[in-house]
Amino acid sequence: MPATVIVGAQWGDEGKGKIVDLLAQHSDVVCRYQGGPNAGHTIVVGEETYKIRALPSGIVRGKPCVIGNGCVVDPEVLIGELDEFERRGYSTAEVYVSGNAHLIMPWHVAIDGASERRLGKLAIGTTRRGIGPCYADKAMRLGIRVQDILDPKILRQKIEVALAEKNLWLERVYESEPFDLETVAAQYESYAQRLRPYVADTSLLVEDALRNGKVVLFEGAQATLLDLDHGTYPFVTSSNPVAANAATGVGIGPNRIDRVIGVAKAYVTRVGEGPFPTEIPQPQQGIVRELGHEYGTVTGRERRCGWLDLVALRYAVRVNGIDQLALTKLDVLSAFAELPVCTRYRLRDGSETADFPAHQSDFHAARPVYETLPGWEEPLSSCATMDDLPAAARRYVEFVERARDVEVILIGTGADREHVLTRYGLEAITRAA
Ligand code: GDP
Ligand code: IMO
Ligand code: MG
Repeated sequence: MPATVIVGAQWGDEGKGKIVDLLAQHSDVVCRYQGGPNAGHTIVVGEETYKIRALPSGIVRGKPCVIGNGCVVDPEVLIGELDEFERRGYSTAEVYVSGNAHLIMPWHVAIDGASERRLGKLAIGTTRRGIGPCYADKAMRLGIRVQDILDPKILRQKIEVALAEKNLWLERVYESEPFDLETVAAQYESYAQRLRPYVADTSLLVEDALRNGKVVLFEGAQATLLDLDHGTYPFVTSSNPVAANAATGVGIGPNRIDRVIGVAKAYVTRVGEGPFPTEIPQPQQGIVRELGHEYGTVTGRERRCGWLDLVALRYAVRVNGIDQLALTKLDVLSAFAELPVCTRYRLRDGSETADFPAHQSDFHAARPVYETLPGWEEPLSSCATMDDLPAAARRYVEFVERARDVEVILIGTGADREHVLTRYGLEAITRAA
C-alpha cells in the first residue's frame, strides 16, 4: 500500500517532475498537495517535452491525478494544461480537483506584481503568479474556492464581496487599475463550465485508494528551503512544501504516509532573491548554468547556481523525515576536475556548524566550509547501473550518503526519463515502503 511523498530537498527545480514520472509508471494515483502555477515540472520523453505547472506529473503516464485542497488553482492555467494534454492524445477523465482548493483570481496576480514593484530592492523575486496573495486570502477567509464554481450565483456573489475590498487596495494602495465585476464574473463563469466535471471529494478518493492497497504518490512543488515555515523566510513561497503537509494538503492522516523520498540536485540552484551560501562566483557559475540549462521553467529567469550544500540537505532530511534520496543532474558535474561540497557553515563568531542556523541573521552571515572531492571528467551517458559510475562519481554519491546517513536510490544522468540509474529497479523502489 505504499504512500510515498516526493519532496524537493533544496530551493526547487531539483527534478521532482522527472522522479514522479519514473515512479508513476508503477503507481495508481498521483497527487499534488500544495502550490500552484509557480511550479514548473519538466518531463522529457524522447523528442517530447512536457512542462507542467498545475497538474500532477502522473498525467504523462495516464494515471489518475489529484489536485489536493492544499493547492491554489489558476483556472486559466489548469484549463490550458487540460486542453494541451487532450490535444496530445491524453484523457483527462481521471483528473480530480479538490473543492477546497483555492482559486487564484486576477487581483491576486495584480497584487503579487504590484507588491513586488513596491518592495523594490527588497523584492522576494516571486513568480508573480498570484500565489502569496491567494494563500493570504485563504488565511483571511476571503478566498474563493474551487467548490464555489459549482453554483453560478454563489460564485458571482463571492467575486462581488472580494472585489469590493480588492479594488480599494488596488486603487488606493497600489495605484493600479481596478477590476470590473461583470468582466471577472463572466470570465470565471466560463472557466467554471469547463472545470465543473473535475471537482471531486479528493480526500475520500485518496483514502479509498489507500484502503484498497493502491500505490499513491504525493508530488511536492517548490521545496524545503522555500517552505513558509521552514525555509529561508521571507524569501520563500506561501505554502508548506515539506512532506508532512502532504497529509494536510490532500486530507489524509499523517499515519497514512509510509515513506518520504527527497529529491536533490548534485549541486544547488535557486531562482529569485535570498541568501544562498554556496552560490558559485562567476564565470564558473555561468558554466554550471549553461551545462545544466538552469533557466526557470515558469519565468525563464536565470537560476542562480551553487555547489552542493550538505548543511542544507541535512536540514531537509530532518524537517521532512527523508528516508531516501534521488540525486539528479550528476551528469552536469562531469565537466569539473574538482568538486567543492559544503559540509559546514562558518558563523559570524568564527565557530563552525553542520546544523542549519535557526535564525535568519546567522544564516545570512554564514559562509560555506568546503571539502573538495575529485571530479570524474567523463560523461555518464553510457552508465546503465550505479556500479558503472566512474569511481570518483561513486565516491561523490557515497559522500552524500555518509554525510546525511540516507541512501541514494536514484541518480539522474540526463534530462530524458531513460537517463536514470537505480539502486533496486524502479518497480521495486516504487512498491517498497
Ligand atoms: P522540478 O521543478 O523539480 O520538477 O524541476 P524542473 O523541471 O523545474 O527542473 C529540472 C530540470 O532538469 C528540467 O529541465 C529537467 O528536464 C532536467 N533534469 C532532470 N533530471 C536531470 C538529470 O538527471 N540530468 C540532467 N542533465 N537534467 C535533468
Ligand atoms: P518547482 O515546483 C523554484 C520561488 C520564486 C521566489 C519564491 C516565491 O518548479 O520546484 P512565489 O511565486 O511562490 O510566491 O515565489 O519561490 N519559487 C520557485 N523556485 N522552483 C519552483 O517550483 C518555485 N516556485 C516558487 O522564484 O523566489
Ligand atoms: Mg521547476
